[in-house]
Amino acid sequence: MVEFNSRIKTIEWVDTYSKMVDQTIIPYEFKYVNITTGEDMYDAIKTMIVRGAPAIGIAGAQGVILFAQELEKKYTDKAEFIKKLLEKADYLVTSRPTAVNLKWAIEKQKEIIKSSKGSIKELISELKTNAVKLENEDIEINKKIGDNGAKIVPNGATILTHCNAGALATVGYGTALGVVRSAFAKDNTVQVFADETRPRQQGARLTTFELTMDGIPTTLITDGMCSYFMKKGMIDLVVVGADRIAANGDAANKIGTYTVAISAKYHNVPFYVAAPASTIDTSIKSGDEIVIEERSHEEVTHINGKRICAEGVNIINPGFDVTPAELITGIITEKGIFKPEEIKDNF
Ligand code: MRU
Repeated sequence: MVEFNSRIKTIEWVDTYSKMVDQTIIPYEFKYVNITTGEDMYDAIKTMIVRGAPAIGIAGAQGVILFAQELEKKYTDKAEFIKKLLEKADYLVTSRPTAVNLKWAIEKQKEIIKSSKGSIKELISELKTNAVKLENEDIEINKKIGDNGAKIVPNGATILTHCNAGALATVGYGTALGVVRSAFAKDNTVQVFADETRPRQQGARLTTFELTMDGIPTTLITDGMCSYFMKKGMIDLVVVGADRIAANGDAANKIGTYTVAISAKYHNVPFYVAAPASTIDTSIKSGDEIVIEERSHEEVTHINGKRICAEGVNIINPGFDVTPAELITGIITEKGIFKPEEIKDNF
């Protein structure tokens, strides 16, 4: 098993292919897979081999290169090549609908495609340069988010988080867990309560994995337990990631986040969202406009391939919910910490 630490890149472009950590098998195994075709990248995003808003953004940018490499073999006419490549880019955006980072990164590649002046080869080389730039910038941005966020973490704090907004959800370091990492670096009495995060258990499988590997004390709780611990005064603040933040500060994140936010408000526990500017979508006024991904029913009916409920029961499985701005204390970004109402004027 490969030794994990937060300096490992979760996703990386290597010459002609993408190398990524397979997140579907953690914590049982830690291994990389190489994604060599555009269609395999679409599937890797959809099946969540790669997941987390910033990480799927990078995957999308790399997927455009993979499609370009394939189309280069079929088309010599540049105009035709560009037309087909733009179609493939739009197709990649449909692999997951909620996290805006996917669209954001693919749009960056589309800008390069549309403004390209040189040969097809030169265009592909520009797409690679851009994808690697986005990859490296992601880690830098997360470190800034971490350092900005660490300022609001009290000494000895217990931070509750939901889902996985860590190194595994980004290229490295993480957003919400970036805040945890930066706070822990200053004060090693900081600790984390991690919600299990049904149905995909990103909290149990991924957050506890990466935090314990980094030596950060972490307590796993099930999703229904947060109010209990807040009432007991055991949670000092909540820090979660986001998949899309609307102009009014409403924030979509993994299903269950909204429940945590309501509980935090009731118990007077500060509730922060940590996310890069690429997660902010000022083209939409409020969270009502965010498309919520509906995922496979089997994620709810089965655990580890084993049915956990009656045959024939009705299932509904939204992957995300939207936390209204009024429940959010602050949005921690690489540019600083903003109140939800300040988002529209600063991004
Ligand atoms: O379905 P997932 O695992 O991709 O959902 C991930 C989340 O909801 C994260 O909290 C969010 O993407 C922020 S990651 C820095």
